[in-house]
Amino acid sequence: MTPELARSISQFRGLRREIVLGRSAGLGRRPRIGFVPTMGALHEGHASLLAQMREDCDVRIASIFVNPLQFAAGEDLDRYPRTLEADLELCAAQGVELVLAPEPAEMYPAGFQTRVQLPGLAQRWCGASRPGHFDGVATVVLKLFELVQPDLAYLGRKDYQQLRIIQQMAADLSLQTEVIGCPIVREADGLALSSRNSYLSEDERAAAPQLSRALEEMRAHFLSGEKDSARLIADGLHKLSWTEGGNPRWQVDYLAIVDPLSLEPVATASEGDVLLAAAWLGRTRLIDNMELGA
Ligand code: PAF
Repeated sequence: MTPELARSISQFRGLRREIVLGRSAGLGRRPRIGFVPTMGALHEGHASLLAQMREDCDVRIASIFVNPLQFAAGEDLDRYPRTLEADLELCAAQGVELVLAPEPAEMYPAGFQTRVQLPGLAQRWCGASRPGHFDGVATVVLKLFELVQPDLAYLGRKDYQQLRIIQQMAADLSLQTEVIGCPIVREADGLALSSRNSYLSEDERAAAPQLSRALEEMRAHFLSGEKDSARLIADGLHKLSWTEGGNPRWQVDYLAIVDPLSLEPVATASEGDVLLAAAWLGRTRLIDNMELGA
């Protein structure tokens, strides 16, 4: 069934209330509310989050909002893919009942000024190359959590730093929402699914799986006994320094081995640490990560 579509906050509140009351009456208890926040251009990675929500929750809500607050000037806000109709079909196929897809002016009316900041987790890695990005993410996610009031919220582990920031925010602010990180979904050749993969030219698409292969090799090297982070990172950088045609194409933003909670770099890698990577392929910035371990 096609989900209800709310384009305004007041419409969303009304629809949410109706659905939750109806479900409470049917179940004879308070329903468990699930939420998947997205920026649309949905793909199989999002489908896996929606499928998990469908399994766990009595009421299933998603948002589709390309959040201007998390894009810096000169980034891809204008060309970010917008595919509302196809997104609603995918939501329908995964049993989503209510979609909030507001206009920017609805979320950020004139005079809006609040920002949520996590000075520790948000400054490094993607936060260093995209100043203000995670303030925009945390602000919109807190606002969405307040509107949806979910028991469970599902986010992809592909955006590992984002996941950690939202989990930390939920813990710090004692939110009622449990934030669940779902596994990365990959193409058959290893490329992590991302709405931004649609920017890649044919040549770039062919080269793109090298990022996950570099991480795989680092993990294999770790499993065969190498624990020195600097040597593991040097391996990964070497792998990204050439392409099959011999033309260097990658511009590595960062490649790091970090503690899974603090995201601080570790000198000696151990099981459970996370390989984090961001690199440019032409005009497209790709990110990926992998947990160290079997
Ligand atoms: O990962 C995303 O799509 C966005 O950063 C999110 C969490 C929906 C906030 O705009």
